[in-house]
Amino acid sequence: MDPRQDKKTDVKKLIDKVRALHEGDRYLIETHGCQMNEHDSEKISFLLESMGFLPAPSEEEADLIVINTCSVRHSAEDKVYGHVGRLKHVKKTKPDLKLALCGCMMQRKASRDYVLDKFPQVDIIFGTNNIYRLPQLILSSDENDSLAMDIEDNYSDLDNQLQANRSHPFKSYVNIMYGCNNFCTYCIVPYTRGREVSRSMEDIVSEVKDLALEGTKEITLLGQNVNSYGKDLDDKSSFPELLRQINAISGLERIYFMTSHPKDISDELIACYKDLDKLAPYLHLPVQSGSNRILKKMNRHYSREDYFEIIEKIRQLDLKIALSTDIIVGFPGETEEDFKETLDLIEKVGYDNVFTFLYSIREGTQAAGMEDQVPQEVKKDRFQRLLDLVYREQRKKYESLVGSHLEVLVEGVSKNNPEKLTGRTRDFKLIHFEGPKDLIGQSIRVVVKDTSTFALEGEYIEASRS
Ligand code: 5AD
Ligand code: SF4
Repeated sequence: MDPRQDKKTDVKKLIDKVRALHEGDRYLIETHGCQMNEHDSEKISFLLESMGFLPAPSEEEADLIVINTCSVRHSAEDKVYGHVGRLKHVKKTKPDLKLALCGCMMQRKASRDYVLDKFPQVDIIFGTNNIYRLPQLILSSDENDSLAMDIEDNYSDLDNQLQANRSHPFKSYVNIMYGCNNFCTYCIVPYTRGREVSRSMEDIVSEVKDLALEGTKEITLLGQNVNSYGKDLDDKSSFPELLRQINAISGLERIYFMTSHPKDISDELIACYKDLDKLAPYLHLPVQSGSNRILKKMNRHYSREDYFEIIEKIRQLDLKIALSTDIIVGFPGETEEDFKETLDLIEKVGYDNVFTFLYSIREGTQAAGMEDQVPQEVKKDRFQRLLDLVYREQRKKYESLVGSHLEVLVEGVSKNNPEKLTGRTRDFKLIHFEGPKDLIGQSIRVVVKDTSTFALEGEYIEASRS
């Protein structure tokens, strides 16, 4: 018998045990951070509902609150501490409330120790690698009044088999690998999420096939560094090969992936955009800085010239692939010259979207120990100048689309205007338009009428022919 099956049966027994005690209890999950965390929260939600928990409409009505934490920047950690602090008072009026913390911060001893010291009201702590342990932790917390905690350094294969409560029936995240081996000098992720572990191609393809049968049209393949997918597997499965297999699954319309590292982008991957009809024309390719000196200090293993070369190859395909990137401002030692090189790179590439971050010191990373930290006022000034450029560039890009007819996957009602629907173009731009609610989940055609900095405004024309 498959040992995975054996362990799965154990988890199932624990789930039934919790159900007997908690059926009908209400839960709420608060998620901080990236798509990886969002997807982990979808798994936690599925697990809780299989234990009989029901979603709570508000914190006040919850019997269990799970906070899925992020440790990439200091500001994300502060938000979590603030939130847990506020819940101290809720717990005073409702002592039976269970409070669970999970995610990247919990994988870091320093953050965990701080939580243990300052927030004795926390009942359960688990990490990013062992979500499946939650049933056992709930039972332990029921039995003892003390903290129930379980952190695994290595990724557990049982988490692979957890199903997820997808937030939309027509779009889904799928993990393809966990962890990161790159050790960019500013980044905490390799310390919190451990070394790279790829899922088998067979598991991934079978999950995507099931999702497609259930009505998923769009999938986003998740990994910290998807281009190195398969390098740790015996059969040397590669990311382009995985994309080819997924492209062959009927029912799917769009494939996205994130995140890619420029040092690992191969010609074979670039060719996939031409060869695979479902691979959406969008690439998120974090450059972080436009200065070779800073890229070296960041341990990124490419130069700005290498990066331009990749962009050129992508442009040569002539497929209107939208590009987005991440930029860190104020990395240790960044001079005005270095910063100007970043601005120059952004202008030259002409991104569709740029995610901007102020460098944040992460204890334990190499950059935290670098002596030439940039003063906060300088960082902030550069950040504002960067934003000015990014908004200007984005607006130009968006305005050039006025009058175009685009295929849009309708995602739901607009958050800012309940009269409007919202969706994504194939190249991942947000678009708002008026239309009947039964279009949600469908691919339709929309003509672009107007723009703002972050979204397009359009008019619904017809159901898509594609
Ligand atoms: N400070 C600021 N930004 C960071 N990122 C990662 N670590 C840090 C840090 N210490 C950014 C990078 C990465 C994105 C997910 O977060 O740009 O690509
Ligand atoms: Fe962090 Fe670099 Fe790994 Fe991305 S590739 S998760 S930035 S260490």
